Amino acid sequence: MNATLITGASSGIGEVFARRLAARGRNVLLVARSEEKLITLCNELGRSNSIRAQYVALDLSLPESPARLFEEAEKRGLTIDLLINNAGFGSFGDFSKADLARELNMIDLNIKALVELTYRFLQPMRERKQGAIINVASTAAFQGVPYMATYAATKAFVLSFSEALWEENRAFGVKVMALCPGVTDTNFFEAARGEKPPARASQTPEEVVDTALRALARGKSHVISGWINRVMTESQRLAPRSLVTRMAGRMMRGRYDE
Ligand SMILES: NC(=O)c1ccc[n+]([C@@H]2O[C@H](COP(=O)([O-])OP(=O)(O)OC[C@H]3O[C@@H](n4cnc5c(N)ncnc54)[C@H](OP(=O)(O)O)[C@@H]3O)[C@@H](O)[C@H]2O)c1
Repeated sequence: MNATLITGASSGIGEVFARRLAARGRNVLLVARSEEKLITLCNELGRSNSIRAQYVALDLSLPESPARLFEEAEKRGLTIDLLINNAGFGSFGDFSKADLARELNMIDLNIKALVELTYRFLQPMRERKQGAIINVASTAAFQGVPYMATYAATKAFVLSFSEALWEENRAFGVKVMALCPGVTDTNFFEAARGEKPPARASQTPEEVVDTALRALARGKSHVISGWINRVMTESQRLAPRSLVTRMAGRMMRGRYDE
């Protein structure tokens, strides 16, 4: 049975991917740590659409989790034709005062798990000459972001990695795309800092997901969601990198530098 695998599907952008794809008639395999939320969502999706919605409750930052997830999908007889590597979290503040264990855990989830899941699920897609992978990066991927240094660097990795794989795989019938949202109204800021997202230019997760699905259909290597985010990101390309980083620092200082 064909299915879409979505990590971080218990809230925010991942949950909306699950809702949108189930509404299009796709079976889904949802992953996150919050089992109760996944059960509720699977029951709702299975009831209101004629699809199978299944879940695996897993902490993907643990070293054995990506392999366990791959084996679980195989055991259930699922052919994953769309993988959405969306699970991720961020942190804010002066890096020298950061909780090192949390920064390293972020790298384990945002980078290591994403790379391993991509590697494992890419092999059967290549053999079938069919499949797609969406890796969720961020507009933070395009420059260093002071007071969000580790997070922005993880997303720069995701963007670079995904663009390279887009080129490596497009001749083999497999699409790889990086999705770069800007500020989006989800639990992200709550999880990172225990606060609401800044209202400035915030998008809904529905807007982000619709942009992503349109861009994937067009075979894009990456997509920046939202025209303001696109203009801001593209306009800094010709500016000196040090100037861009200083400007990013000015935006973050005061609110996020403690
Ligand atoms: N919101 C924004 O402004 C924004 C902007 C750019 C990029 N992004 C990116 O978008 C992606 C989705 O974030 P979101 O905004 O939708 O935030 P969110 O609502 O906090 O969703 C994060 C998802 O990741 C899951 N997750 C977190 N840690 C996990 C772990 N160790 N193992 C498995 N699942 C885990 C969470 O579920 P559990 O807690 O149940 O595990 C949740 O389902 C992230 O990669 C984020 O970096 C967000």
